[in-house]
Amino acid sequence: MLSQNIKYVGVNDHEIDLFEGQYVVPDGMAYNSYLIVDKNVAVIDSVDARFFSEWLGNIKSQLGEKTVDYLVVQHMEPDHSGSIASFMQAYHNAKIVSNARAFVMMKNYFGTDFAERKVVVAEGDTLNLGNHTLTFVMAPMVHWPEVMVSFESTTGTLFSADAFGKFGALDVDQEWACEARRYYIGIVGKYGVQVQALLKKASALDIQTICPLHGPILTENLGYYLNLYNIWSSYGVESEGVVIAYTSVYGNTKKAVELLEQELLELGCPKVVVNDLARCDMAEAVEDAFRYGKVVFATTTYNAEIFPFMREFISTLVEHNFQNKQVAFIENGSWAPMATKVMKGMLEKCKNLTHCQTEVKIMSAVNDVNICQIKSLAQELVK
Ligand code: FEO
Repeated sequence: MLSQNIKYVGVNDHEIDLFEGQYVVPDGMAYNSYLIVDKNVAVIDSVDARFFSEWLGNIKSQLGEKTVDYLVVQHMEPDHSGSIASFMQAYHNAKIVSNARAFVMMKNYFGTDFAERKVVVAEGDTLNLGNHTLTFVMAPMVHWPEVMVSFESTTGTLFSADAFGKFGALDVDQEWACEARRYYIGIVGKYGVQVQALLKKASALDIQTICPLHGPILTENLGYYLNLYNIWSSYGVESEGVVIAYTSVYGNTKKAVELLEQELLELGCPKVVVNDLARCDMAEAVEDAFRYGKVVFATTTYNAEIFPFMREFISTLVEHNFQNKQVAFIENGSWAPMATKVMKGMLEKCKNLTHCQTEVKIMSAVNDVNICQIKSLAQELVK
């Protein structure tokens, strides 16, 4: 229970393998939903369709025979909207409260926008429930264009939609930042400007509690979460250190990476993160590249291109607005090395990348010249 009159009615999903069809979620996923019990009763967001019955049971166990007056829809992605139509059948007198963009999507998903029962709201509109009042704040592209968040002023509760969410079900005890960062960078990371706009609006509110659509309800030390969201959405450096992302076919590029790692640690680099892109979780590797300020790309020339996992990695970074980093390159190519040229070309679209002067060019296996290059690159990176 959140407060006497605001209750959690969400569900945990331990059946899911890939969230949004691509992110591994070994600890499952939570689809949060909230109930405000007042003179009028409101439910904030629904859950994935597979969990409709469980969700309805959660609502009924709180309300008994009391009915629901409003379903507030903040986001139309199916992990939250999937049970809307079933809910509207179960509570056939309930009205549905959302914005114009969301109602267009509703029609696309369900073939109806519930025209007879809809309440269309826009920026700053309010919904009075009795002692509680919700104020709606539009948050386009955090994470879809129709997203809005809702602020309940009596309790200082921000229903924040996907913002401040994380991977992982609520019955698994887990540190917040690791899975919140992977979630944020992967899913919302491209939209830093829009998240900054939401944070600016949020700074004008007296927020005591944050109720996201995934992950735990945040009640204490809110500055910690807001500060991380500010760093992530402004593409700042969260942690000092160097990330080395690499692929290696026969272990020669890997050897160069290991030498660089060792050299960096000997020079006092506070943290070196090494990710083998063929074997690690790509979303973790992307998250690390955004977290730290310095990224080394090491790969082989392959079909006059670069190794596929490195191509996917860089494409994902570019797509997510990778910027504000010091970057360096290690290439391997036995007869016609061109990996560095290809990698630099792919990263050209990124803003504010500072390239290290030292480049490491391996012609098959690491030689003495390469060892000097690696030492010099390490010096540059720790400067
Ligand atoms: Fe949790 Fe964008 O849906």
